[in-house]
Amino acid sequence: MEKKTIRDIDVKNKRVFVRADLNVPLDDEGNITDETRIISSLPTIQYLIKNNAKIILASHLGRPKGKFVEKLKMDPIAKALEKHLAKEVKKMDQVMSSKVKNEVRKLKSGDVLLLENLRFDKRERDNDNDFSKELAELADVYVNDAFGTSHREHASMIGICKYIPSIMGFLLEKELNTFFSLLKESEHPFVVILGGSKISDKLGVVRNLLKVVDTILAGGGMCYTFLKSIGFEIGKSLLEEEMIEYCKQVLDEFRNEGKKFLLPEDIVVAEEFKKDSVFKTVQIDKIPKDWLGLDIGQKTIDKYKDEILKAKTIFWNGPMGVFEWESFEKGTKEIAIAITESKAESVVGGGDTIAAIKKYNVADKIGYISTGGGVSLKFLEGVKLPAVEALINK
Ligand code: 3PG
Repeated sequence: MEKKTIRDIDVKNKRVFVRADLNVPLDDEGNITDETRIISSLPTIQYLIKNNAKIILASHLGRPKGKFVEKLKMDPIAKALEKHLAKEVKKMDQVMSSKVKNEVRKLKSGDVLLLENLRFDKRERDNDNDFSKELAELADVYVNDAFGTSHREHASMIGICKYIPSIMGFLLEKELNTFFSLLKESEHPFVVILGGSKISDKLGVVRNLLKVVDTILAGGGMCYTFLKSIGFEIGKSLLEEEMIEYCKQVLDEFRNEGKKFLLPEDIVVAEEFKKDSVFKTVQIDKIPKDWLGLDIGQKTIDKYKDEILKAKTIFWNGPMGVFEWESFEKGTKEIAIAITESKAESVVGGGDTIAAIKKYNVADKIGYISTGGGVSLKFLEGVKLPAVEALINK
């Protein structure tokens, strides 16, 4: 089912609400550490500017849980947008207020206004009807260009579509096309490398990957629940107690299907969750009681590299460890380099994973860099993305 895009309508002098995914990684001082999501959103915004639309731009940043959080304000994003667009971006201090409505009324063709972090308003995540309607009333047309958030049933993703014509932006269109062909035309072995710390988001879809992939290489925060499920003591490493049984079943299912689900054999453990903590590499059956795993060890790296070099298709989501800290970056760094050395078609997705490939200067050797993290896993799982379903058909 083909969805309408901004090419299909006349946007001239129209107020266009663009929901982007500008959820970029920030360092402790609040500086943006990777601008990929901002840069990827530019083609839609630039097209709308060129075609004389009045642009109301909105995104979430982090997970502030419906409350104002100083360090999750959209100011650094507004600045980055101004730099790339070479024009003023009117940054609002609220998500919704009479001032916001007033400023929107004053917009001229080609102007860009950015709302404050949508998730400062609890009603965003609740997909609240009144809030959706208020957002819709700001504009004549809604554009979803937030692939990374299209699995979320939130007001700015779903609710708003009930009230104004809702279409796709260029980024959403490009991402969907890439993932469709990854699923349809992927060559085997298809290897998925999974890491990162958003554990429950990922564990929920791993089982379904069984249908499409040949091998999973697990690392990062999520692998410890799997290790625990097969009887290893993981010390103070990240654990989701309620997922242990599920992890065990998933491992059984992979084995029964004759597919590989590889877990670390050795781990870099630290005494504390600190950049300069004491650390050492241990076999997985030797994780000290009060220590925690922060990276995969060398044996694991070598084993994973072998699989990567045999692969014909690779999808990578989530770092192997706390790569932001030098002592715990080796796993992520070597996996990133191995992907560039393989001949496989590679797709990499997710904010932290993108930050990692940028850090190791390998971004230009990756086949496709997706702005989607959790959403790409949903897609691989075969789930229909609710925020795409809500858009109008051609
Ligand atoms: C992401 O970082 O994957 C997207 O921006 C969605 O964020 P969320 O997982 O907090 O909804």
